[in-house]
Amino acid sequence: MQDEERLITTGFREEDSDAELSLRPHTLAEYIGQDKLKTGLNVYMQAAIARREPLDHMLLYGPPGLGKTTLAGIVAAEMGHNIRVTSGPAIERAGDLASILTNLNAGDVLFIDEIHRLSHAVEEVLYPAMEDYALDIIIGKGPAARSIRLDLPKFTLIGATTRAGMLSSPLRDRFGISFRLEMYTPEQLAVIVERSARILKVDCERDGALEIASRSRGTPRIANRLIRRVRDFAEVRGDGKITLENAREALNVLEIDELGLDNTDITMLRTMIERFDGGPVGLDTLAATTGEDAATIEDVYEPYLLQLGFIMRTPRGRVCTRAAYEHLGLKMPRDAESKQIRMDI
Ligand code: ADE
Repeated sequence: MQDEERLITTGFREEDSDAELSLRPHTLAEYIGQDKLKTGLNVYMQAAIARREPLDHMLLYGPPGLGKTTLAGIVAAEMGHNIRVTSGPAIERAGDLASILTNLNAGDVLFIDEIHRLSHAVEEVLYPAMEDYALDIIIGKGPAARSIRLDLPKFTLIGATTRAGMLSSPLRDRFGISFRLEMYTPEQLAVIVERSARILKVDCERDGALEIASRSRGTPRIANRLIRRVRDFAEVRGDGKITLENAREALNVLEIDELGLDNTDITMLRTMIERFDGGPVGLDTLAATTGEDAATIEDVYEPYLLQLGFIMRTPRGRVCTRAAYEHLGLKMPRDAESKQIRMDI
């Protein structure tokens, strides 16, 4: 199945656009979870405001759907400035970035999603912009070429990536602030679900919210998507109130299991177990056997399976753990177990 077709993809689906906008918190106080990040960010923003300076450039990294764009919007709002949202692949040429930069106002936030996908030529424009708020323009060609420097407004770059390791080190070093977003606990997600239910004007019992939360893979984007599907069930089959029963019924019909795994996850785990004796299996082999894209496996499926402790990454490839066997109702063969012990993992 293509990742974007999955109801529980952490990636952005068309249906999320309006809904995410209306459900997004606008202040740090409304933003649930990521406590360490919030504490740090609050101090840095207050300090910057007191010094009448823009906030230092900030890198946000971690799995998709955890609220990187939302946080960038909050920073802009709390600093009292505008945000310009773009992404690495959307900035094709150096000139595209130059025109975005020259159209910013002092204090604005420039948010670049998937910043690891910027081309080298575009990155080169970004360095002096980040460091000196300057744009170096080359005029002419060959020996007669000369460079002039244009001043840019003092802005804040917020870069987001699912792959901090793929960022070039000169780019990474230019971010004064860097935060890793963590997956949310079911309790935190339940608070997000209850908040979203209030905004959507849906009655939602605590148990129902927790049921949705615990099947949302630690990801608010998924929780906010599932709540709308469960609401449909609640309205058609019941009196419109989200309860434990109708949340369970809806999510079972949607084939999302108690831990939030769908058929694609189950197929991947089963492939590892049935065709590769539980592993180790290399990422590319796994991709070829399941027909999924290696990068999608790494960015989208794996973070949650790792978080659950269902798979481990080892130097020789991915390995299924006992917990994965048990979740699938399978018994872990002795030799798979002893193989893992021999590999010292
Ligand atoms: N919606 C998406 N992420 C959220 C968060 N962290 N807190 C509240 N609402 C959210």
